[in-house]
Amino acid sequence: MTISLKVAVIGAGVAGLTAARELQKESHQVVVFEKSNRLGGTWVYDPRVESDPLGLDPNRDVVHGSMYKSLTTNLPRHLMSFTDFSFVEKLYDDPQMYPGHEEVLKFLEDYATHFKLTELIRFNTIVTRVEVVDSVVNTFVVESKTNGVSLVDEFDAVVVCNGHNTQPRLAADIPGIETWSKTQMHSHNYRDPEPFRDQVVVIIGNGPSATDISREVATVAKEVHMSSRSPHIKVGKSEKFNNMWQHSKINCINKDGKVVFEDGLFLEADIIFHCTGYKLHFPFLKTNGIVNIQDKRIGPLYKHVFPPQLAPNLSFIGIPEESFTFALIECQSRWIAQTLSQKVLLPSKDEMLLDVEQLYQEMNEKGVPEHHTHYIGFQTTYIDWVFGQTGMVLEKGVKDMIEYFNYCLMSAGLDGYMDAFANKYGI
Ligand SMILES: Cc1cc2nc3c(=O)[nH]c(=O)nc-3n(C[C@H](O)[C@H](O)[C@H](O)COP(=O)(O)OP(=O)(O)OC[C@H]3O[C@@H](n4cnc5c(N)ncnc54)[C@H](O)[C@@H]3O)c2cc1C
Ligand SMILES: *[C@@H]1O[C@H](CO)[C@@H](O)[C@H](O)[C@H]1NC(C)=O
Repeated sequence: MTISLKVAVIGAGVAGLTAARELQKESHQVVVFEKSNRLGGTWVYDPRVESDPLGLDPNRDVVHGSMYKSLTTNLPRHLMSFTDFSFVEKLYDDPQMYPGHEEVLKFLEDYATHFKLTELIRFNTIVTRVEVVDSVVNTFVVESKTNGVSLVDEFDAVVVCNGHNTQPRLAADIPGIETWSKTQMHSHNYRDPEPFRDQVVVIIGNGPSATDISREVATVAKEVHMSSRSPHIKVGKSEKFNNMWQHSKINCINKDGKVVFEDGLFLEADIIFHCTGYKLHFPFLKTNGIVNIQDKRIGPLYKHVFPPQLAPNLSFIGIPEESFTFALIECQSRWIAQTLSQKVLLPSKDEMLLDVEQLYQEMNEKGVPEHHTHYIGFQTTYIDWVFGQTGMVLEKGVKDMIEYFNYCLMSAGLDGYMDAFANKYGI
């Protein structure tokens, strides 16, 4: 017998679309809520920026996207594919191996059309509340708003796909930053390098946005000073750009406005630019303390997907960081869809809780900070495991490619991995 549940999916980005696809395959009844007027999430370039460039003002109008104008993918399109819909075979206007963001959006629109997902989406509809109804029947109330009109629906299950690149997370504890009177901004509000023309910029962070954006900023800025708290960075002048330097962590901001680094160097800057990532944010979620968020840790979540107490009916897609997003999202979506139809069973609530406890304990013992809870990196262990839950294995070709990608990352570094990979797999 097929078990068909009424499932709400929140968001129509990569995660929401893939969830819809997999849920539909399992014959569930799917409604996708999307607050904007089109699908694609992050991949819809939005030229608007927020009124508060740091994103601190709670009354600001929030812009969802963090995409910037010139962005090309930092993964080859081979590793941004679905197992049943390949980005390598789908070439639109920009057939490069690392295409611009428009190409990814076209791919997602094609995916949605091909699998008839668009008709499942309620556009211009923001979810304002998801609450577990506290009674014998375990249903969820989903409150949403379309053009100011509220609607309350009930669902058997909810899949949360609202994205994690919208709420800026700032570098904490920079003594003296409160006296800084010049410009500060977060990469969420970066669209093009113009505001940095002829400026002396301090960029905090060493993740993908810091690396990518700093290169673009360096083409117009007077000086670019990177700052990272990572113990692994190499301090000194850039070999590639003659106006770029790498520094250690910022020690403090002096009263006279000078930025002082931990190694004792200091300088007068015009802009402090935070490329420090994003916070997890689920403003609509009311779970009575069953799911909690603290410094980028949301939990307890079994394998970063299910809160044991509400599993499988409440789930989260795309929480793990620094991974192959498309494969990650696909394996999680399949797993969720098949646990909801009870083709796949989860361990008991206690076993799932124990698994989460063990993860936290291991992190503690190894001294891994809490905000790295969902950091899985570019490995395949996790993705393999999750695909395995639904009886699928990652294709050998894809696995080889991932292995080679990691090899390129290790041997050629952030500056060279893309070319190194293209040398083998490019046409
Ligand atoms: C600048 C940048 C570059 C990136 N580059 C790459 C790359 O090269 N390769 C790669 O694989 N990944 C890249 N990523 C990662 C990227 O986040 C993923 O590829 C993917 O887009 C994540 O999809 P998502 O569905 O989880 O979230 P999103 O794309 O953010 O989608 C979430 C959707 O939910 C909607 N929503 C949010 N809240 C509500 C609500 N309350 N009610 C209704 N709808 C709501 C939003 O409007 C949005 O459409 C990049 C990310 C950023 C920010
Ligand atoms: C999940 O939803 C189904 C269908 O509504 C319900 O039968 C089941 O009890 C729910 N499970 C939990 C743990 O709430």
